[in-house]
Amino acid sequence: MKKSVLDFQKMKQAGEKVAWLTSYDFPTAQFAEKAGMDMILVGDSMGMCVYGYAGGTMPVTMDQCIVHSEAVRRGAPNTFVIGDMPFLSYQTTPADAVRNAGRFFKKAGVDAIKLEGGRRIGTMIRAIVDAGMVVCGHIGLTPQSSGQIGGFKAQGRTAESAYELIQDARSVQEAGATFLLLEAVPPEVGKFISEDLKIPVYGIGAGPYVDGQLLIVSDMLGVFEAFTPRFVKKYANLAEEIMKAMEAYVRDVKESKFPENEHTYNMLEGEKEKLDKLVKSVK
Ligand code: KIV
Repeated sequence: MKKSVLDFQKMKQAGEKVAWLTSYDFPTAQFAEKAGMDMILVGDSMGMCVYGYAGGTMPVTMDQCIVHSEAVRRGAPNTFVIGDMPFLSYQTTPADAVRNAGRFFKKAGVDAIKLEGGRRIGTMIRAIVDAGMVVCGHIGLTPQSSGQIGGFKAQGRTAESAYELIQDARSVQEAGATFLLLEAVPPEVGKFISEDLKIPVYGIGAGPYVDGQLLIVSDMLGVFEAFTPRFVKKYANLAEEIMKAMEAYVRDVKESKFPENEHTYNMLEGEKEKLDKLVKSVK
């Protein structure tokens, strides 16, 4: 059965960890649900993992996020799905934020949306929450503003910057968010913030003390090869498996080893003879 926000709150209180993974398509979402994933994020990391954009997440559009969220929803009807709001879908005005967040719920049937930023997007979070939607905040390394923070770098490594993050975390909770995601921060910061906040705090590269973990599916399955962040654990090397399979297929076709009898369709009884006659008669 699909978990609700109350279940996630209870899990935090009981110290039960949440397993969270990104997915962008129907089959991967099916696997995630079968594997017992608590949550799925349809991340704007699709910019790198699906579309191969050099600009990372920045070029990703609302329409892309909606289409992929719809596919994931179909693949995982009983899993809590979070849609990721792409760059400039919420930073402009609270009205834009509400309208675009609403599209995820109305079109794709997501259970929550995620957006990046702390204090500076408090009014957007509040507006979306006031419209009745469930929000997950995201602070620390925030890819949509990675230019401002000097690239894809860990955050909160000094006392001052850790304290800034703590203030951001408190403001996200204050604005009415139901969850907070911390990306690429030291374990001490993850621990402090998850103990400080009442809402569940999950991490991607935030150490072991947070209330749950998120990984990007293409990283953990070993299919994204451009770079591997320090926080990734590769649970498989599918790139190797995929290469082996594709190279074997090319070889078989070139050497006429595929298709074999078992991969072909037989004509119905007597139809080949009839066809031969037909061909002769019209010659
Ligand atoms: O888009 C995404 O997958 C994310 C993670 C990097 C946290 O936002």
